[in-house]
Amino acid sequence: MSGKIVRKAVIPAAGFGTRFLPFTKSVPKELIPLVDRPVLQYVVEEAAASGIEDILLVLSTEKEAVIRHFNPFPELENRLRERNKTTELAVLKKLDGMARIHYVYQQELNGLGDAIRYAESFAGNDPFAVLLGDTVMDSSNGVPVIGQLIDVFRRYGASVVALEEVPKERIHRYGVAGGTMLDGAVLKIRELVEKPAPEKAPSNLAVAARYVFEPEIFAALARTPRGKDNELQITDAMKFLLTERDFYGCRIAGRRYDIGNPMGFLQGTVEFGLKRPEFREEFKAFLVRTLQQMKD
Ligand code: UTP
Repeated sequence: MSGKIVRKAVIPAAGFGTRFLPFTKSVPKELIPLVDRPVLQYVVEEAAASGIEDILLVLSTEKEAVIRHFNPFPELENRLRERNKTTELAVLKKLDGMARIHYVYQQELNGLGDAIRYAESFAGNDPFAVLLGDTVMDSSNGVPVIGQLIDVFRRYGASVVALEEVPKERIHRYGVAGGTMLDGAVLKIRELVEKPAPEKAPSNLAVAARYVFEPEIFAALARTPRGKDNELQITDAMKFLLTERDFYGCRIAGRRYDIGNPMGFLQGTVEFGLKRPEFREEFKAFLVRTLQQMKD
């Protein structure tokens, strides 16, 4: 047991989002909604529900709308108060006090690894969580996914990455981890392989958008050369770390929705729409009717 507590999180949210063009030309992909909440709010809620107190959002200068989403809006609040719109006011007030949110601008968009480097002084000597700002996690065991990783970190005292089981026919799209399973959910990682052919994949466990790092990741990033697309890849830095330190994977209980990808957005919209009690029955009936009509 390391007993170390994780209170800080970094959310990279500066990327161009080219897979979701043309929408992302003017609106940050992290503000794409699932039902009525932007993706990034789900991510901040996941972190706050896992004991995170300080969050660093890595942005680009085009993403000012993200700051507006988390800042108070007194004029609107007053208007809602005057009109006794207490439900709407509560929805707005929920945004305050989830965690302290800090911002930093990534000067050039040189990849996820580069975005994480901007968190070096924020992290200091503390371990920290990383949650991709365009990916929503739907936990299936009541513990938020980043909370599941924090628990593994507390038990094993070394960096942890989220791993999601992926069917063999889709494994070639992901970074895949191989190693020794320590218990039902923890893998001691020996290797990370980028986009392997199904027969070469060391497992069916794909790296999945959530991490807990010791500050030693910054030294690893500093030594990592630019990789694919001339970007600094976090997976390359993790491979460095693996050669020197223990590194664990947490097989997550839950599902990931990569909203930066239109298919992830469509699937997430259906799943999260069906979860909302006020929409569930009507939406379900609509989906059933629509599927039936397609068959006819
Ligand atoms: P992606 O790998 O989805 O890259 O980033 P992208 O550039 O945003 O999107 P595509 O591939 O062009 O569609 C994963 C997360 O890392 C952030 C993104 O904002 C996203 O939340 N990111 C990516 C940065 O913060 N900076 C970068 O330079 C790249």
